[in-house]
Amino acid sequence: MMCTSIPCPGFRPKASSTWLFFVFRALYFSHVEKVANLRIAIVGSGKIADAHVEEIRKIPSVQLAAVCDLEPIMAEQLATRYAVPHWYCDVARMLETEKPDVLHITTPPQSHLSLAKQAVAAGCHVFIEKPVAPRHCDVEAIVAATVAAGRKLAVNYWPNFETPAISLRALFETGVLGNPVHVESHYGYDLAGEYGAALKRDPDHWVHRLPGKLFQNVLDHVLNKITPFVEDQQPFIQAIAYRGDAGRVDTEPGDLLDELRVIIRGARTSAYATFSAHARPVGHTLRVYGTKNTAYVDFMARTVVLERKQTFPSALGRLVPPFAVAKDYLQQGFKNLNSFSHSRFHYFDGMRRLLSEFYLSIERDSAPPIAYSEILRVSSMMERVFEQVYPEVFV
Ligand SMILES: NC(=O)c1ccc[n+]([C@@H]2O[C@H](COP(=O)([O-])OP(=O)(O)OC[C@H]3O[C@@H](n4cnc5c(N)ncnc54)[C@H](O)[C@@H]3O)[C@@H](O)[C@H]2O)c1
Repeated sequence: MMCTSIPCPGFRPKASSTWLFFVFRALYFSHVEKVANLRIAIVGSGKIADAHVEEIRKIPSVQLAAVCDLEPIMAEQLATRYAVPHWYCDVARMLETEKPDVLHITTPPQSHLSLAKQAVAAGCHVFIEKPVAPRHCDVEAIVAATVAAGRKLAVNYWPNFETPAISLRALFETGVLGNPVHVESHYGYDLAGEYGAALKRDPDHWVHRLPGKLFQNVLDHVLNKITPFVEDQQPFIQAIAYRGDAGRVDTEPGDLLDELRVIIRGARTSAYATFSAHARPVGHTLRVYGTKNTAYVDFMARTVVLERKQTFPSALGRLVPPFAVAKDYLQQGFKNLNSFSHSRFHYFDGMRRLLSEFYLSIERDSAPPIAYSEILRVSSMMERVFEQVYPEVFV
């Protein structure tokens, strides 16, 4: 993309500054050109692919070259909806013809390992959807293949790149929370929503064929908020799952388990992970209890508030907190309003931020935005949960 905004309109370099202007301009355009050469392709043109296309298109310096799907109609429709120049139903052909720098893998997890290997063998960096793969050993294989090929990998942990998640990180890193004592990560799911309805009406849906079934389709989003605080490689994990409808805690064979509770205990920090298909409203929250203060993040409302240690004496200490919390919410509300007015309040804004960071890490050959050790720890913890919930799958 050519950029004409530097220098500003009407600017005429003086003779003495001409060389400086041209050096600056050359440097600027060499940078833009380098980023502009980043070609992106997507394999998997189903439901989540639209979000990828939309967020890629918001990053001005990259180019979405092509999309692909085993089903020609899916690829063609996605390409038509967003005016993507080319579409394919054979990923090998797409990689050979388009030579993308980055392949987004947005297919069901069962195909991720083979597609990721194919991508890195073709010289692509990989942006992959969660869950990275059905089994932890497959996730290890994907990371190993990427590293061996000298390419980069990122997983679509987009909520961790939303503004409240960034604010929470800042609170933690600047010592406002103190040391983490306990974390509660809650994720709600609406089985009547677009994704839930798709898997409920189709008994052969790929979600049912995952070792961790419904839970595996979302547990990354629950556990990847805990791993930054529970640093152990092998924390204690205890999981129970059941069907939540009508208050029943027994299950019938073949029933889809839809309530999950996990207790995690590391050397210094403990955590609860909750998945609920029945609690309303459908929440997505995180509470981090620190030795100094506690932070509460609502990913739906995009707020992060601090529950502070009280310093006021007696009744004042009980009177002040609601006002302090109300002030936090008011500030967050105005911040969100400001983001909205600047078109930065889209549902997948975190994905745009994550993608920008990933593409930049490719361009600069720096560390990708999510450490591979984190990806592996999340996947290992997930597998330990599923071993307890669906032991018959792991015999
Ligand atoms: N990060 C998130 O918040 C988020 C949200 C939704 C879905 N996802 C993930 O995205 C992935 C896809 O989910 P979805 O809901 O879009 O699925 P989907 O079933 O709607 O679409 C998947 C598409 O991939 C195609 N496909 C399957 N195997 C293929 C292959 N080998 N080559 C080419 N195309 C192939 C299918 O034909 C289908 O069109 C899953 O891993 C899912 O968990 C992530």
